[in-house]
Amino acid sequence: MSGVGEAVRGEFPILASATYLNACSQGALSHRVRAAYEEYLDGWDENGAEWEHWVERAEAARAGFARLLHAATDEVAVTTSVSQGVSGIVSALPLERGGRTRIVISEYEFPTVGQIAHAQELRGAEVVHVRPDADGSIPVERFADAIDERTALVCCTTISYRTGHRHDVAGIAEVAHARGALVLADSYQAAGAIELDTRTLGADFVTGGTVKYLLGSAGLGFLWVRGSLLAELLPTQTGWFADEDIFRMDISDYSPHATARRFDAGTPPVPNIYAGVAGLSLVEETGVPAIEDHVRGLNTRLIEGLADLGATVVTPSDPDRRGPLVCVRSTDAPALVASLAEERIICSLRDTNLRIAAHFYNTAGDVDILLDALSRRRALLV
Ligand SMILES: Cc1ncc(COP(=O)(O)O)c(C=O)c1O
Repeated sequence: MSGVGEAVRGEFPILASATYLNACSQGALSHRVRAAYEEYLDGWDENGAEWEHWVERAEAARAGFARLLHAATDEVAVTTSVSQGVSGIVSALPLERGGRTRIVISEYEFPTVGQIAHAQELRGAEVVHVRPDADGSIPVERFADAIDERTALVCCTTISYRTGHRHDVAGIAEVAHARGALVLADSYQAAGAIELDTRTLGADFVTGGTVKYLLGSAGLGFLWVRGSLLAELLPTQTGWFADEDIFRMDISDYSPHATARRFDAGTPPVPNIYAGVAGLSLVEETGVPAIEDHVRGLNTRLIEGLADLGATVVTPSDPDRRGPLVCVRSTDAPALVASLAEERIICSLRDTNLRIAAHFYNTAGDVDILLDALSRRRALLV
C-alpha cells in the first residue's frame, strides 16, 4: 500500500462510514494495525512468551523511529509515552546538584510537559512560561527574553496541539545553545505528518508517540537524544531495560547503557510495539514528504474555504508556520463537535477551537464535506 487519498482509503475501514479528520487525537485504524495485534495474540497463544521475537520487535520499532527522525538507532529510546521520555530527560538534569535550575516552557506545551516541568520545582527548579503574542504565535524573541545562563532546558513543542502553530525550533535552539541550555521538542503533533530531521531541527531531544499520525495505538513512544550528549546524561528515572546488560540481572549498581537505551525503562510495551511498527510501515510506504505535501494541499483548500465562510482560523495560513492541524474558533466548540458527529464528521476540540486534522488518507472530498457542514452551522463559528 502506498500513495495518498483514494489510493490508501481502503486500508482504513472507518473512512467507509465517516469523514475522519481527527488524526491530532488518534489516527484511523488500519487493517494492517489490526492484523499486527492479531499476530501478537496468535504468537502468545501458540508459543507463550516469545521473548526473543519481542526484543526483535522492540529493536524494529527503535530502527523505524530512527529512520523517521533521520537519526542513528543508538540515539533513540523506545518509551511508553512522551511523559516517560520527558521525565527521563529532566531526571538526568542536575537541577538540585548545583546545576542550572531554570526550565523554560512555551505556553503551547502539552499538559504532561508543563506538569513534569513544574514537578521539578520540588528539586529546586524555576519554571518560566513563554506566552504567545496577540496573533497567537510565539516568536523566537519571546524565548530569547526567557532563556538565560541559569536555563537548563527549553521546551518548545514543534506544533501546538491547541492552535496548530509551528514553532521555529531551529531559531529557538540557536538562542538556547548560545546560552548553554538544552532544547526539547515534543513532536507528537508532527511525527508522521511533517519531516522531522534531527540533523537540522536544532533540538537536543525529540519525543513523540504512535497514537496520532504514526497510525499506531496508545502505549508506545520514542525519545531521540543527541548522541554527543548521551555520556553526560544519567537518568535517575530508569529501569532494567536501560541497563548496559539486561541479561546480567544485576542489582549491585547503576550502570546504564552507553546508547539512548539508557532512557528505556521496563519491559517494552510489546502489543503496542506490534501495532506501532505496523502503523509506521504504512507511513513509510507513502513517505513523510508525500504525506506532508498532500495534507498541506488539503489544508490550503480548507483554510480558503473557511475564509469564504468568514470563519476565524486560529492557525497561521502560511504553510511554513503550521503543520497538519487547523484550528477554527467556535462560539461553542463542544456543541459544534457533537453536531458534526451527528453527520459522522469526526473532529475534536481544545479550548474554544474546533480542531481539524487531516492525514494522507483524507481527500479534497472530505474537506468539502466538512466545509459544507460548517456552512450550515455558521452560528457556531466566530
Ligand atoms: C503534543 C503532545 N504531547 C504529548 C501527548 C501525549 O503524551 P503521553 O504520550 O505522555 O500521553 C499528546 C497527546 O496525547 C500531544 O498531543
